[in-house]
Amino acid sequence: MFEYRSFMIDSARHMQEPEDIKLIIDAMAKLGFNTFHWHLTEDQGWRFESEKYPVLNEKSAVREFSNFGKTHFDEPYGRVYNKDEMRDIVAYCSKRNIEVVPEFDMPGHTGALLASFPNLACREKDFKVKTHQGIFSDVLCPAKEEVYSVIFDLIDEFCEIFPGRYFHIGGDETPSRQWEDCPKCRALKYNLGLESWAEYQNHFMNRVIDYLESKGKHAIVWNDAAKGKNLDRRAVLQYWKEKDRPSIEFINGGGKAILSPFTYYYFDYDYSITPLNRTYSFNPRLRGLTDEGYGNIIGLEAPIWTEYIWDAEVMQKMLFPRIIAVSQTMKGEDKMPYREFVKYAKEKQKELGVAFEDEKEWTKPRIASVFGWSRFVKEHYTKEYINAAKNHEF
Ligand code: ACM
Ligand code: ZN
Repeated sequence: MFEYRSFMIDSARHMQEPEDIKLIIDAMAKLGFNTFHWHLTEDQGWRFESEKYPVLNEKSAVREFSNFGKTHFDEPYGRVYNKDEMRDIVAYCSKRNIEVVPEFDMPGHTGALLASFPNLACREKDFKVKTHQGIFSDVLCPAKEEVYSVIFDLIDEFCEIFPGRYFHIGGDETPSRQWEDCPKCRALKYNLGLESWAEYQNHFMNRVIDYLESKGKHAIVWNDAAKGKNLDRRAVLQYWKEKDRPSIEFINGGGKAILSPFTYYYFDYDYSITPLNRTYSFNPRLRGLTDEGYGNIIGLEAPIWTEYIWDAEVMQKMLFPRIIAVSQTMKGEDKMPYREFVKYAKEKQKELGVAFEDEKEWTKPRIASVFGWSRFVKEHYTKEYINAAKNHEF
């Protein structure tokens, strides 16, 4: 049995009512999950109520409209979860032996934070909470001391609400474009003798990891951060990018990891792209892992991102039954044959009290990857979006 058995909900792109989160928590507890990774900060919205920096509760929480490709809403969207709501979720989880791991994603995916604190970017400008999806070059400047002062204050505030052992600090999808043009960043990278911008990012990650360790917490980082060889080994790597050699080296070299392979465990993808049998087939003994490396895999996690998911029932259908497949793999024992598993999933369907995807959708023939991904992109991203991305408009 893996010790870390987790699911993630993105409450930043779209929020969920606390009652809907609790329904999912109940089902997850019944399936043996013991961790809820709560993704609370993003380019498209800040969801953590702050007393120290109340500007975040208004300015960073609301985006003017939403255009996530196939999803488009004209109205302003978003608010923060208040402290009582978050404490209530933590208590609800605690009663069910589930630890809540908050995520404050940095130094990328900070568009909403920068809307309140433009001085934390390399070059100050009028940042807006993002209204589109994408990977944005508006990121924190690791060479400014005021960045650490604000984020450490916020981490302190998060830790008052979330008392668990782990704290997720993101580290994914961080373009270095702004750093490359920033005299402060260039000077710091040079003075530290760092060889790449990936190492420069980890100079930042390592300071935050160290701060969390000083508070008795372990940081979790997405495996983008393994690219810089200097990542502090006290961090736990979350493996979402697959076939990633630097991650395998980190894990074989003694670093701990959680596996969330995105072509198996990302449940925002349709069943036609990630059918149930594919999720069930995932083998945590990744190619390239030594026996010792395999021993460093502390667990599994299935994330659900919410650019296209704002309805509670739709979210449940995307999660169930696929998450039941994860619950079997996380036992770390020989799995039952797939046919038997399908029977098991049908039984569970009666017990869990959540909406399930229609059985005829569970295992559609998998769309071949190249065709599948291009079709997926066409369906999910409008022409306007693709052109805007090409022109670096955001
Ligand atoms: C991720 O999917 N950007 C972690
Ligand atoms: Zn800078």
